[in-house]
Amino acid sequence: MSQDSNTSANEDAHRGPRHVAIIMDGNGRWATQRGRPRLFGHHAGAKRVREIVESCPDVGVKYLTIFAFSTENWKRTQVEVAGLMGLFRRYIAKETRALAEFGARVRFIGDRERLDAKLVSLMNELEETTAENTKTNLTIALNYGARDEVARATKLLAEDVACGLLDPADVDEETLPKYLDTRVLPDPDLVIRTSGEARISNFLLWQSAYAEYEFIDTLWPDFSREEFASLCSSYGDRDRRFGGVKK
Ligand code: IPE
Ligand code: IPE
Ligand code: MG
Repeated sequence: MSQDSNTSANEDAHRGPRHVAIIMDGNGRWATQRGRPRLFGHHAGAKRVREIVESCPDVGVKYLTIFAFSTENWKRTQVEVAGLMGLFRRYIAKETRALAEFGARVRFIGDRERLDAKLVSLMNELEETTAENTKTNLTIALNYGARDEVARATKLLAEDVACGLLDPADVDEETLPKYLDTRVLPDPDLVIRTSGEARISNFLLWQSAYAEYEFIDTLWPDFSREEFASLCSSYGDRDRRFGGVKK
């Protein structure tokens, strides 16, 4: 697969972000504020996703990547982890049709090895069902950790060196991204984290080296299409220099 270069002149001209990545945080606190169990917050959070996906074409976002479960989230209680896994299974089963009809191409990044077989088969099915869609690209990071991703990529790269497919002398900064889970995606232009925490928690470390960041106080279940549009719009005022000098 090659990187999507199917960008119209119109899309190039707009100053909004082409790829937005979101760390959807704050579900637990949202539920606690209401005296409800944390899973209640996760359910409310899952409901926000469709609206944001569907607003992407309106704000010129061609790629949306969302952080659903990290490699560190297994540290949570068994009840919360099992509840989240059940939620992912139900969410995928329920949303497949709507996402497919909307025209979203869905991909998953992260390590599937530790996920249960039923969930993995639903993930594969959703990827296959939406493989021809082009309206927007939704990538769901599930059991994703950037350090884990880099470790897995390095292992694949080392295997290619060991069997003579890759010469170590040819390794440069274009090489590793070809082995990352995100190899078919452009780098994020804008990374949004909800819930007031100003950290990236092992999300897209390599890919976001030059991303713009927005840390906002809104808890994920309260995040709206309007706030998303406003963040995408203010992104256009930023001056991305990539180490160069302002023109
Ligand atoms: C984000 O919300 C969802 C996941 C990490 C799975 P949290 O569950 O982290 O919510 P807070 O941060 O505890 O409020
Ligand atoms: C990051 O949120 C992971 C997801 C949103 C899936 P966390 O709530 O797990 O991050 P920390 O623990 O606050 O760093
Ligand atoms: Mg959190």
